[in-house]
Amino acid sequence: MESTIYYFTGTGNSLKIAKDIAGDLVNCNVVSIAKNITSVNTLKPNGVVGFVFPIFYCGIPQIVQKFLDEIDLSGSSYIFSISVYGATAGNAGNHQVKNILKKKRLKLNAAFYIKSVDNFIIWTWDIPSQKKQQKIHETVNNKVKTVSKIILNNENHYDTSIVEYIGPIIFRYKHFIKTVNNRDKSFTVGNNCNSCGLCAKVCPVKNIEVDTIPKWLHENCQFCLSCLHLCPNKTINYKKVTLKRNRYKNPFNKLEEYFNNK
Ligand SMILES: Cc1cc2nc3c(=O)[nH]c(=O)nc-3n(C[C@H](O)[C@H](O)[C@H](O)COP(=O)(O)O)c2cc1C
Ligand code: SF4
Ligand code: SF4
Repeated sequence: MESTIYYFTGTGNSLKIAKDIAGDLVNCNVVSIAKNITSVNTLKPNGVVGFVFPIFYCGIPQIVQKFLDEIDLSGSSYIFSISVYGATAGNAGNHQVKNILKKKRLKLNAAFYIKSVDNFIIWTWDIPSQKKQQKIHETVNNKVKTVSKIILNNENHYDTSIVEYIGPIIFRYKHFIKTVNNRDKSFTVGNNCNSCGLCAKVCPVKNIEVDTIPKWLHENCQFCLSCLHLCPNKTINYKKVTLKRNRYKNPFNKLEEYFNNK
């Protein structure tokens, strides 16, 4: 049966998971949400349809919300979502996806949470050590195998979480969504920017222009932190919080896979 996985990613964890699940399914396309957001109204996938995305503030990214609202899923036979998180997924991802589908009179057949490397370095913690990252990637691989089996069997399955409803309240998810598009106002550029332009290339929503240094457009930032993490000179920071912190890119993806024109 035909299948399609739509993904959104900042540092690549969701992309890697989307590709691995696709490899286990039959005849599965992996499609970028960011590259298709302006033409989402023309999409009508058939068969098995999945959505893979990172958890932001215990909820789904704004762009994923919009994509789910607008995509025609009436041809689907089985729908699943995978919330990729770093510390606490809440249950908002799956709760939200379920509700969006309910409005379309459709059922979410399976909702998974997969804990991957936490890239959220703008609060109090840093990227985990290399050793911890390695362990996390192993656990992700094992979970992916289980998830693929469930999807292949078209089983109903719902992962649960203890901070199901309180998570988005503590993390102020609604406030995040209201303010997300110009959170890029708090990014700074250091002296060692060499004008390479990579940050503009990896911004999934083309919200950066580079002349000599990056200029954030304050238009549709999703706060995915791709620009901050992937800058080769580590010269993009969020206020002063990230100055001494490490950076992260999922090591199993090629750099070109992040480019917004590929
Ligand atoms: C803006 C932002 C908010 C985040 N909020 C959460 C969160 O509420 N809970 C959590 O467990 N992880 C959170 N994370 C971490 C990511 O969900 C996690 O690192 C994920 O694996 C990133 O996926 P990606 O590599 O596909 O972008 C957040 C990351 C970002 C950039
Ligand atoms: S990726 Fe870094 S070094 Fe390259 S243009 Fe952007 S800020 Fe400058
Ligand atoms: S500007 Fe940076 S944080 Fe905002 S969407 Fe682009 S890559 Fe992500």
